[in-house]
Amino acid sequence: QTGMFTYDPGFLSTASCQSSITFIDGEKGRLLYRGYPIEQLATQCDFLDVCYLLLKGELPNVGQRDEFHKLVISHTMVHEQMQFFMRGFRRDAHPMAVLTGLIGALSAFYHDSTDIHNAEHREIAAIRLISKLPTLVAMAYKYGVGQPYMYPRNDLSYAGNFLRMMFGVPSADYQVNPVIERAMDRIFILHADHEQNASTSTVRLCGSSGTNPFAAIAAGVACLWGPAHGGANEACLNMLENIQANGGIAKVGEFMEQVKDKNSGVKLMGFGHRVYKNYDPRAKLMQETCNEVLAELGLEKDPLFALAKQVEKIALEDDYFVQRKLYPNVDFYSGIVQRAIGIPVKLFTGIFTLARTVGWIAQLNEMISDPEYKIGRPRQLYVGAPERKVTPIGER
Ligand code: SDX
Repeated sequence: QTGMFTYDPGFLSTASCQSSITFIDGEKGRLLYRGYPIEQLATQCDFLDVCYLLLKGELPNVGQRDEFHKLVISHTMVHEQMQFFMRGFRRDAHPMAVLTGLIGALSAFYHDSTDIHNAEHREIAAIRLISKLPTLVAMAYKYGVGQPYMYPRNDLSYAGNFLRMMFGVPSADYQVNPVIERAMDRIFILHADHEQNASTSTVRLCGSSGTNPFAAIAAGVACLWGPAHGGANEACLNMLENIQANGGIAKVGEFMEQVKDKNSGVKLMGFGHRVYKNYDPRAKLMQETCNEVLAELGLEKDPLFALAKQVEKIALEDDYFVQRKLYPNVDFYSGIVQRAIGIPVKLFTGIFTLARTVGWIAQLNEMISDPEYKIGRPRQLYVGAPERKVTPIGER
């Protein structure tokens, strides 16, 4: 019994740590950040409120909110030298390769926030990362499309500033669409933290060696890139586009048979979850956001959205998926809404990275501030060769 939650002994043996940041009830499909249900945070707060909550444990009051916001917007620029670092990449480099490099390189630019055991350093690193991730993600995008970088604007909201750095150009004014701005902010909130997932566990393990915060976050970026994890939204959209290109809704049944054939190796991307054995609450909120954005952009008839809803409907009525408790996860609709906003598929996991960075930082801080913590050192079950003698090469 911990607080309001009780765990069965079996569960405790699998727990890698204890944490007070995020709670997931996989059976009921519930997600809470610091005790607040994701449904309330996603509809009543903005992403910077949620960053404050994840980092400090409480939602900000008016004064705290203003102070935090001012702190974040005063660090949105990156060192000009970053542009030269960027030039080392090919224009067609995957944005996640670029971001892994850029974020790891941040420790080379900031020496006042590299000591992970110094709370002040961690605080500065947190602000720098939260502030600069939108700028770095937008730079990675602009570099790929060969457009000039757009410098951050401090008179815009966090999400509005990001949208302008992404889609604005020096030769024209960029008007932030409030519906898209709200949707972008909500996408950040829905991806902000998620307990001990693969990338968060990577960040904790990496940070436990005492490395600098930027390096630990860069390790998380590399892990999140995987298609079974943060790369699933990119994989899911590619899957839907392939179905669309090969017959669309009429071909969904055939595709589902492929998925159910174990030998095909085909997975229904955006479905299933290691923890949720019910609907991922983020998927419902993401579908609503998708509806709002498509309606705002006059894309209600988006064939991919219709296809996704048909795939979901078929899967939720099919025994294979019902018996295995496979439901849509956060990635199922996030690709469709990001594509509608104009974000290229290759950058979807970059958006996930931008949002999840605050969760990684909060989890890292929680671990490092625990006086009992030690460097992570998982053990193994050795099943290799018994001890034996080396024989001279002529006798092998
Ligand atoms: C994220 O951990 C997190 O919190 C991650 C995340 C976060 O916010 O950090 O939530 C973000 O990573 C979401 C997940 C994104 N990945 C995908 O959408 C990729 C597709 N999903 C699968 O790869 C899969 O569902 C996993 C990896 C997510 C989970 O795989 P598991 O642990 O095998 O799932 P399971 O044990 O519940 O599987 C039960 C059965 C198995 O078949 P059987 O051996 O029982 O016959 O269902 C099958 C699985 O093979 N299965 C699927 C499937 N997912 C599981 N079959 C087809 N399509 C799928 N998507």
